[in-house]
Amino acid sequence: ATSGLGTEIVNIVNKLQDVFTAVGSSASQLDLPQICVLGSQSSGKSSVLENIVGRDFLPRGTGIVTRRPLVLQLIHRKPTHSQQNGTANGQDLKADGDSQANPDEWGEFLHLPGQKFYDFNKIREEIVRDTEAKTGKNAGISPLPINLRIYSPNVLTLTLVDLPGLTKVPVGDQPRDIEKQIRDMLLKYISKSSCIILAVTAANTDLANSDGLKLAREVDPEGQRTIGVLTKVDLMDQGTDVVDILAGRVIPLRLGYVPVVNRGQRDIENNKPISAALEYERKFFETHPSYANKAQYCGTPFLARKLNAILMAHIRATLPDIKGRISQQLQKYNAELQTLGGALGDNSANIVLSVITEFCSEFRTTIDGNTNDLSLNEL
Ligand code: GDP
Ligand code: NA
Ligand code: MG
Repeated sequence: ATSGLGTEIVNIVNKLQDVFTAVGSSASQLDLPQICVLGSQSSGKSSVLENIVGRDFLPRGTGIVTRRPLVLQLIHRKPTHSQQNGTANGQDLKADGDSQANPDEWGEFLHLPGQKFYDFNKIREEIVRDTEAKTGKNAGISPLPINLRIYSPNVLTLTLVDLPGLTKVPVGDQPRDIEKQIRDMLLKYISKSSCIILAVTAANTDLANSDGLKLAREVDPEGQRTIGVLTKVDLMDQGTDVVDILAGRVIPLRLGYVPVVNRGQRDIENNKPISAALEYERKFFETHPSYANKAQYCGTPFLARKLNAILMAHIRATLPDIKGRISQQLQKYNAELQTLGGALGDNSANIVLSVITEFCSEFRTTIDGNTNDLSLNEL
């Protein structure tokens, strides 16, 4: 069992992005969607996000911990250091947290330019420090985002957004209209049609009252880009389960629901590594009488594969437009070569031409020749 997004899509996206960089055309950069987490306070949003990334670096806990949007840009980069041990499905499961700092993997905050964080515990401390600096130590919130980039050979270039949870009753320093303030903040992010919404609901609460699902419906009434995530399945009362929800008999969603088991508060206090948590999650679903026969559709690795398939579908939909723009460039360079008598040596026009040609054949295999990624219908 692994977390994180698959290597397949990492490879395809990176090849495409390499070509765009080589061509020097920012206009044709792949417009990958943002993935936003939406749900009530303490439903497990930060935990889900962290499991998807496969690293331990977000503040999590009871009460309102996420008080500003965290715009997390994952940036894939080729390893420049040789050792690449223990990676599976694009994630190094051994590198939990910090202790094993990896020279190829670091974080950088927009508000601290040039400062590289190799220790992921320090990333968490900085998120907490800057949150407090901008909102106070109490429960105040702010729409001012924290922008964090994580560079790593083990991630897909992608943007994830951790958002404050929906809440009803003001606490501490919170203004009376806190509910509306948070709602407005969330709507700004999830209204964009390129946003994939992870609507998180704790399985030990009533789905019909899920604030995340309700808000998601407002911007995505057809459920085209909303995935239901059910957390805390391990905390459900004996004899109850989420089988009816998964079967679409409660509130159906086109993209369906994925049940997960994250670390509990005690696990977090005891620094339980992500690898151990994923192992526990796998065993939980495989041995539970309600889920044993559908364990392959449960848990974080399945959620990651599902996101992978959605991204793949998005890339497929975006490619025809990109292809059009590249063909135009190709024609332009061909014409240029003709003017120069076609007798060019190793100049940049030739290099660009060959890169584009290579891309076009790559592109053909991606679209027609078919990759073995999951299709959305299988999910
Ligand atoms: P957020 O406020 O929605 O970001 O929620 P957090 O990710 O901070 O989690 C809130 C609390 O719920 C933390 O103490 C987590 O340890 C706990 N938690 C989250 N998901 C699960 C889960 O699946 N099982 C258990 N037992 N605890 C969870
Ligand atoms: Na919380
Ligand atoms: Mg949170």
